[in-house]
Amino acid sequence: MTEYEGIQTEQTPLIPIACPAHHAQKTGTMADSRSWREIPPGPRPKPVLGWRLESMKLALDPVGYMAQLYKKYGLVTSWGTERPRVVFTFDPKLNEVMFSDTRQFHWAVRPKWQYDNNAMHVLSYSIFNIPIEFYQQRRKILVRPMATVHFDRWRDTIVRLTNSAMKDWQLGKTIDMHRRGRDLVHAVNMSLLFSIEDRATVQRVHDCVFLMANSGPAYSILFLYRYDLPGSKYRQMLANAIEMEAFLRDVVQKRKAQPTNQESDMLDLLLSAWDKIGEGLTEDDLVGELYNLVNSENMTAGLTWTLFLLAQHPKICADLVDELHGVLHGEAPTYEQLGQLPLLDKVYKESFRLLPPSPFRRRYTAEACQFGPYDLPKGATLISSQYVTHRLPEIYPEPQRFLPSRWDTIKPTPFEYFPFGAPSRYCIAQRFAPYLIKTIIAMVLQRYRLTVAPGSRINRHCRLSLELEPTQMPMVLSRQDRNFTRSPIKGDVLEMVDFA
Ligand code: HEM
Repeated sequence: MTEYEGIQTEQTPLIPIACPAHHAQKTGTMADSRSWREIPPGPRPKPVLGWRLESMKLALDPVGYMAQLYKKYGLVTSWGTERPRVVFTFDPKLNEVMFSDTRQFHWAVRPKWQYDNNAMHVLSYSIFNIPIEFYQQRRKILVRPMATVHFDRWRDTIVRLTNSAMKDWQLGKTIDMHRRGRDLVHAVNMSLLFSIEDRATVQRVHDCVFLMANSGPAYSILFLYRYDLPGSKYRQMLANAIEMEAFLRDVVQKRKAQPTNQESDMLDLLLSAWDKIGEGLTEDDLVGELYNLVNSENMTAGLTWTLFLLAQHPKICADLVDELHGVLHGEAPTYEQLGQLPLLDKVYKESFRLLPPSPFRRRYTAEACQFGPYDLPKGATLISSQYVTHRLPEIYPEPQRFLPSRWDTIKPTPFEYFPFGAPSRYCIAQRFAPYLIKTIIAMVLQRYRLTVAPGSRINRHCRLSLELEPTQMPMVLSRQDRNFTRSPIKGDVLEMVDFA
């Protein structure tokens, strides 16, 4: 048994030492496609069931399943060896291949089936799955409102909404920080996107997005047999899609009818870019994009996990509060001041390494091709995982430990550390999301000390199209008195983080 810090690897008798995957692991070099001499080992199909059992395990717990695959088979594996339809890669070198050739390894897969209503059709079509030839135009438009030049303009809204949210958080009480964080991040998102702040609309939109995200194909295996039946999750999702599409279309039409001409929010910036370079694009296209932008679950997950890791690491949290007070003196940071908070930056980076809100990515082969050791057919699925690659011990010693100080020395490549995707298709919010999360953390920690409610069960919640988030985060709120303590906890977070 060979043990690497963090993730244990068992050498099965099938794997001769010459196998590049394990050889690479032993020598700390990543194998590239030319050096494969044989197909790496992998799971076997079950009699009668075939791969269904594997796909069920993947769908129900993608992060746990892929960590197990790496533990058992190493950096690359697949379902089947002959022209496999599904390949998993945790190898930064193969990640580079997968993410760099956006024509061969693409995303543009439209759901095979037609949803039973047009609304779902409109909402499920966006930059994520448009044909590559339309990609650049769409991206140019979508990055406009996310540009850093606007950040100080968004700051007042972020600070005002964070202050009013914190007023509702009761001292000495146990609150679910994940739910409260979600409400706050979503409220900020709705205000910055559409200048909408009335609580009823903000809540209704959130409920719609949340239900749709949690009742889609990836959520329930039973969905494979989707029927528009009374009371079914699928019927609920269709109803929510109609309401969501109507809401977004109404917002767009009202804004077009009465333009503010002030670039007062992200919708203004989007519409002006749309007018300038959106030739040929339709209102349906805009509604599909807005549906993406209204979903802030990734940011909520990033915020909650970071507050959790800080609460469970008293010394680091104490040092961070010192840094915040030293620079901000109780105030909220400006974008420029974030550059003077190096520990906050390392804490955020390390949190997104250890518990990446977006824990894996998929691509599909446009044509049959060679990928690493595999001859892949057209339409094969490639799955790469930030969660697993961010824990490779040869890149991140003591990978399961929360060590912000490691960022003083490590310089991972964009394919060894990719919480916001890879260069070819970086997240449009790769600067905005950390800006929002860091601003909220800086404000909360200067005012409150957060302690995980002792004995809490912290489990991961992740499905095929969802982010990696905690099922709950019970925390006790106290005035900031620097009396930091780690709490005893339970749950599968203990598989994911080593609190030594
Ligand atoms: C912590 C928060 C977030 C995380 C971790 C995250 C993560 C990611 C990742 C990993 C990708 C690349 C996907 C791939 O290549 O397969 C991506 C792309 C994208 N994200 Fe985010 N995201 C976050 C927040 C947001 C927000 C707030 C928005 C919108 C307001 C957003 C909009 C997008 C868009 C439009 C793309 C596609 C970009 C493209 O293909 O060019 N993301 N995100």
